[in-house]
Amino acid sequence: MKIASTSIDLISALENHQGSTILDREFYTSEQIYQQDLQQIWYRDWVFAGHSIELPKPGDFITLQIGDCPIVLVRDREGDIRGFHNVCRHRGSKLCTETKGKTRNFICPYHQWSYDLTGKLFNARSMSDDFNYDDHSLIPIHVEVISTHIFICLAENPPSFDVFRQAAQRYFEPYSLADCKVAHETTEVENGNWKIVFENNRECYHCHKGHPELSKSFVDDLAGNSGCADTELTQFWDECEQGGLPSKSVAAHDNQYRLMRVALAPDFHSYTLDGKPAVAKRVHSSDVENSGALLLYHFPSSWYHYLGDHILSFRALPLAHNKTELTTKWLVHKDAVEGEDYQLDHLTAVWKATNEQDKTFVELVQKGVSSPVFKPGHLSEIEESGVTIFLKWYRKTMLERAKGGS
Ligand code: FES
Ligand SMILES: [Fe+2]
Repeated sequence: MKIASTSIDLISALENHQGSTILDREFYTSEQIYQQDLQQIWYRDWVFAGHSIELPKPGDFITLQIGDCPIVLVRDREGDIRGFHNVCRHRGSKLCTETKGKTRNFICPYHQWSYDLTGKLFNARSMSDDFNYDDHSLIPIHVEVISTHIFICLAENPPSFDVFRQAAQRYFEPYSLADCKVAHETTEVENGNWKIVFENNRECYHCHKGHPELSKSFVDDLAGNSGCADTELTQFWDECEQGGLPSKSVAAHDNQYRLMRVALAPDFHSYTLDGKPAVAKRVHSSDVENSGALLLYHFPSSWYHYLGDHILSFRALPLAHNKTELTTKWLVHKDAVEGEDYQLDHLTAVWKATNEQDKTFVELVQKGVSSPVFKPGHLSEIEESGVTIFLKWYRKTMLERAKGGS
């Protein structure tokens, strides 16, 4: 039995990757490469954090963890959303320990140093007269909000957000995102490397057998991924665009993101088991009767489905080389009343089942690629082109940055 080497030269390994397979096992199992992923991608790129509608009032906050970095986002008294490293400037205690909530100030649980909503330290007991409060503000991070989607960047000099903003704004415009609420949310930890989670998301080779519930409404052929339904897809796009819903595929930044509308299976109006809309109130202003699903992915952290009656956002964050946290949110119109305009089970059944199934696949892959004999097999050019696109972006981004580029 030939055993794979345990040490790895990152640049050579990236340069040697041919693109027709997934990466070598070390990219999914090595602590050293995980740390490089954090340094070069997660601490340098724009990462989806949540929706601004989750922080409607001053003092509302959410927290999240990106790799080794605890983060807090808060709406300040001016109404702006600010982000900080969630780390006390005294001796480093994690400051805000709740996942979400409302507060007037942030008070450290250890020695009660107190910070206002702009991150400024205003109270530190028993310090000498020459103690400088201004030198001990919380460390800020960059925040961009686009149609309620909060993106954050931990780098001092973030990459441009403008190209994505301009492209996505047009697609988001018909949707009443600011008038939505989170009807339901789930968070689970998948025992798999973050790249396995995204690779699994970027193909539907596994959908037919793996996702019986989702496959009723989501048909990969209609999504144009197999190249079988180009004419129908173009016709669908034309109808939607005439109805004011941007639909044609757009991508940029080495395919770091892509927006594209897909038709659902005939007679399906939403991701429900019976095909009926899950919510009586719509989330866009178009008259197009069945607008399918607008799909967006944004490497490295998120993907979304914008349906006529609800919106799904998925946020994947790395917690360890073999642990990824997936948070799913179901957004509906804020005036939709549970029990009257929608039933929670009807709304969430398909993606709860799909998430559970995907978690199983991700964990099976993590277990398999961890075997020292694992060698990557060939990807399907027809069914797994999305995986190839993801790995191309990963390889290029890592190589440029590992070599000291932008
Ligand atoms: S560590 Fe926060 S007050 Fe001491
Ligand atoms: Fe899946």
